[in-house]
Amino acid sequence: MTALLTLGTADAALRGELTAAIVSKGYGPKPPLLATVLAAGFSDRIVGALESGGFLEVVAWIEQACERYAPRRQVISMLEAACTIARPILRSRADLRAAVDDLATLEHALGRAIERYAQHDMRSTDAGLEDIEGAMAGFLARLDNADPASAEHSRAVGLWCKRIARRLALDDDECTFAARSGLLHDVGKTMTPKEILQAPRGLTDQEWNVMREHTQIGAAMIREVPLLRPFTSAARWHHERLDGKGYPDKLAAREIPLHVRIVTVADCFNAMIGRRPYRLPMSPSAALEQLVTHRGTQFDPMIVEAMSDVVERAD
Ligand SMILES: [Fe+2]
Repeated sequence: MTALLTLGTADAALRGELTAAIVSKGYGPKPPLLATVLAAGFSDRIVGALESGGFLEVVAWIEQACERYAPRRQVISMLEAACTIARPILRSRADLRAAVDDLATLEHALGRAIERYAQHDMRSTDAGLEDIEGAMAGFLARLDNADPASAEHSRAVGLWCKRIARRLALDDDECTFAARSGLLHDVGKTMTPKEILQAPRGLTDQEWNVMREHTQIGAAMIREVPLLRPFTSAARWHHERLDGKGYPDKLAAREIPLHVRIVTVADCFNAMIGRRPYRLPMSPSAALEQLVTHRGTQFDPMIVEAMSDVVERAD
């Protein structure tokens, strides 16, 4: 990131604006004093990151805050909310817009922190990792009931995500994270009317609007289950595009976390090679061509390349 600002009084104002916005939302741990301390710390680090051009220090601070303050879940929830609140504030200032991209790094760090602490909590309550598996299986069973084709698609997307992540040389944890994100990305379709999901034709504009809601609905469903909260981003953002023309939040480029960009490619590829009531399946090579055509606008070119390698090796 380039030097964004000459910091001075403007940034004391920004620090104050961020802190006040975060505190006024009423998120955060009790007592409220701790919420205020965290909001001020977060805002300080964000402004510091704008000065230094790097967000690594903020990530380190988030880790420390999660270690230091209890209850951890509330601390993490608050910091997550703080990222969301900071986004439009930074976006509203032309000179800070580049920094918005880096919030995705923070959100990813928070997602991993949630996952780590969820696993830690499970260990300390003598529960096993299979509880995450059980919670995921519950969602998949509901999706199977609502629309078996969507459940089958989700399982396939999970497998593609794992293969792509391996091809990108991500570590085992990241590969599992990507695979689970793929598996859960479409759970919101549980609530989409069957006549829309299974329409034997293209959808009307109005039906598309209903269909698109599966992103927010899925995110809300996943958010209800603390163990699965790290997967909220994949459910909400897997129809975002690199060029900012996706939905529901019109994120762009690095605002979209890596694991979500993996899910997007896997999802579109698997949808194209699958049968739909109103069209024949595409061949894998034709589907890859589509990914290549839309790399850089819809898809991350690095992930399209990894997907091509995965498919060609499978051949
Ligand atoms: Fe979807």
